Amino acid sequence: MNAMNRKKFLQLSSLGLAGLSFRNPSPLSNKPIVISTWESGMQVNAEAWKVLSTNGKAIDAVETGARHIENELNCCVGLGGYPDRDGIVTLDACIMDEKSNCGAVAALEQIKHPVSVARKIMESTPHVLLAGAGAQQFALENGFTKEPATLSESADHAYRDWLKTSQYKPIINIENKKGNGPFAPAFFEDGSANHDTMGLIALDTKGDLSGAVTTSGMAFKLHGRVGDSPIIGAGLFVDNEAGAATSSGVGEEVIRICGTHLVVEFMRQGYSPELACKKAVERIVKRDPAKARELQVGFIAVNKKGQYGAYAIQKGFVYSVKTDQVNKVFDSKYLVEV
Ligand code: GLY
Repeated sequence: MNAMNRKKFLQLSSLGLAGLSFRNPSPLSNKPIVISTWESGMQVNAEAWKVLSTNGKAIDAVETGARHIENELNCCVGLGGYPDRDGIVTLDACIMDEKSNCGAVAALEQIKHPVSVARKIMESTPHVLLAGAGAQQFALENGFTKEPATLSESADHAYRDWLKTSQYKPIINIENKKGNGPFAPAFFEDGSANHDTMGLIALDTKGDLSGAVTTSGMAFKLHGRVGDSPIIGAGLFVDNEAGAATSSGVGEEVIRICGTHLVVEFMRQGYSPELACKKAVERIVKRDPAKARELQVGFIAVNKKGQYGAYAIQKGFVYSVKTDQVNKVFDSKYLVEV
């Protein structure tokens, strides 16, 4: 050991660090990130960030974020969401971790935290998806409580409005409309946006990816309709080698192309998150360009390096990003100018 190395060794020894190998980075060396659909993703990200920034697991972060928005009774996610055409709120949710463990609930009634029921299914059953009465029975057997079947004030108002015409037509970017459209709740005193699907994906300090989705689904849907949100590979997909993606918008179009699985496979092929989302959007538009002008779908994605991006069919889709340096809402790029 020459004089210089000996001096460095002694300095490190005095710090108790001489035995550490600096060739092996700390297992907690990754920069965490969480991204979410829509503007309300900002509050969701803030909750998830409390977990990520204290070296918590991505799976706990996404569940925490989703639960936060499910608590918001004046938000169109969770029991405060819009009902189906029969006036019943039915909830869809799913969750997926870094080991491809996943759980989901569909058409779940009167349970406040569908994302946590989905996690319970993931962790304590051999199944992935429980639906309807069976999902509710499972929830009640596992300590969840049955909530009243009443509509939130805003949902009740919107439903009464809708009954005047009973027109069944998805509204573009309804998740992001202010409270003044025919389908939008009128009771957002602070003018905050109306969102019906919250999807969030996160990368933790260990470099593990997870995601969750929670929604009341398409407003005034047929009773029993299930969208993309609880379908693994449609509304959410996580592959810890490649990346994670989630979606918002008209779920039927996402299901037809296995949208988020497609986005993740494009990332595996080397496309950036934004380009991967764009290629999935192109797949939807190519199938029926005229129809695509009438509907919205947006994808968001994160890859294993923590790079992120989004793409939508039409203008108006926004997403929220939180890292140690970024905390803002981004406008998504889009494919079709209407
Ligand atoms: N993307 C939500 C739904 O279609 O239900």
